[in-house]
Order: sequence, then structure tokens, then C-alpha cells
Amino acid sequence: MSVIVLKIGGSVLTDKGRSSTARPEHISRIAAEISQGLSSKLVLIHGAGSFGHHQAKEFGLKAGLNETSIKGIWPTHLAVKTLNGMIIDQLYQNGVYAVPIHPLSICVLKDGRLDSVCMDVIDELLSRGIVPVLHGDVAADRTRGIDILSGDQIIAALAKALNAKKVGIGTNVDGVYAKDFKIIEEISPSNIGIVKDALSGSGGVDVTGGMYGKITELMDLAASGIPSLVFNAETPGNVSGFLRGTCKGTLIHGD
Ligand code: IPE
Repeated sequence: MSVIVLKIGGSVLTDKGRSSTARPEHISRIAAEISQGLSSKLVLIHGAGSFGHHQAKEFGLKAGLNETSIKGIWPTHLAVKTLNGMIIDQLYQNGVYAVPIHPLSICVLKDGRLDSVCMDVIDELLSRGIVPVLHGDVAADRTRGIDILSGDQIIAALAKALNAKKVGIGTNVDGVYAKDFKIIEEISPSNIGIVKDALSGSGGVDVTGGMYGKITELMDLAASGIPSLVFNAETPGNVSGFLRGTCKGTLIHGD
């Protein structure tokens, strides 16, 4: 059975304007929708939102390892791990057997880019029908000491390693907007120049690049033959719709 990789952004699951503040109504609805729509193997990835971005900024984690940032590793990891626990709790309550996989423990970066991921645990769990739940995290970096690893980078790496059939990015917008505020239905190498021009960072505190960062990761994925859909995960029914193949948004694909 082929694998689906789904990321739900931190802006959906948390209030990005207020440190470590969850949006429990969205977490429980999304967990219920995953339960309703699930028919393939699933890897779920979630963003950090206000459980991580604030801490990462406060301790300057993107500056690499130094006397200040070293103090922020645990608070940042703990914050996002707390959010991860809330999500897994809700999945369990909806009958989805999900387990935490913390990127800090299985990923190494090089110059801020994901360099290696230990896939063993993920492969094994997936083969048993268990849903691994990963998240944006602080991670070891071969050159910088530490850095922030966004869920968007994790999506691309896992989707490639697992040869995913489908990748979804659930955000708090209906897709990628053009300058005229219309949703761009498809992004491919032929219109990427215009699209990048129209993109700007998302609201709140975001240390990993907002929508521009997402599209860059997804274009790379599209180049290796894996399409992805950016959709609104705040709209009820869209997460289960994505899993069933009926959700609308912006489709990112190769030419
Ligand atoms: C960020 O992860 C991780 C930390 C700041 C610890 P993401 O980049 O995937 O999070 P969101 O989706 O933007 O909140």
C-alpha cells in the first residue's frame, strides 16, 4: 500500500501570535477527519506554530550553536513536543494509532538543510499500520552545530524516501495566492517565476520562511515526480477530502 505524507501547518494548530497557545478545536477536528479519511499508510507532520517559533527566535537558534542558543534547545524542543503530544492524544481518541517521532532524535542537518534521516523506525511503524507523527524541530547541524528544521523540509525528504503517492500541506489559506488575490490552481516550472514574485512571508513569528519557503521545498519534490497539494486545513472537511482525493487548493507539479 502506498504512503500519503500530510503536513498540517503550525498556523492551523496554534495561535501564532501568542506563545505556546494551541487551537484545540482545530486539533480535535483534524484528528477526527484523519480518522474518517484514512485508507492508506500515513505519515503526519505538523508545524510548530507558537510552540517553537517564539522559543527559537528568543534564543536565536537560527544563528547556530553559541552560548545563547544552546540554552534554547530544550525549551524549543519541549514546546513542540508538547504540541505533538496534544495531537497524538486526539488521534488516539479518534481511533488512529499514532506515535511521536521527534526529528531531533533521527535527523542531522548540514548548513540548515536536512542531510540525513534515520528511516528505520518510520519504515517499521508504517509496515505495521501505525501512523508516525513528526514535526518541525530544533536539530543537530554538521556545520552550524544546531539549526531549525522546518516540517516543510521533512515533508520533501520523507516523501522521496517513501516514494509517497500523495503529499498534502494543510495551511490556514485556500492555496497559494497570486497578486490579484486569486488562488493559483497549479504551480509548475513554467510559472514558478511569477509565483515566487507574488509570495510573501506568513503572519506572526516564523523562522522558517512562510509560504515562500514551502513552495521552494515543494518544487524540489515536484522535480522528483511527487506532486503536492496546498489546501486550507481550517475548512472543515478538507483534511478528510485531501485523504480521499477530493480537496481543492494549489497543485504543485513538475512539467
Ligand atoms: C518550525 O517548524 C520548527 C520550530 C520553530 C521549532 P515549521 O516551520 O514546520 O512550523 P510552522 O508550520 O511554520 O509553524
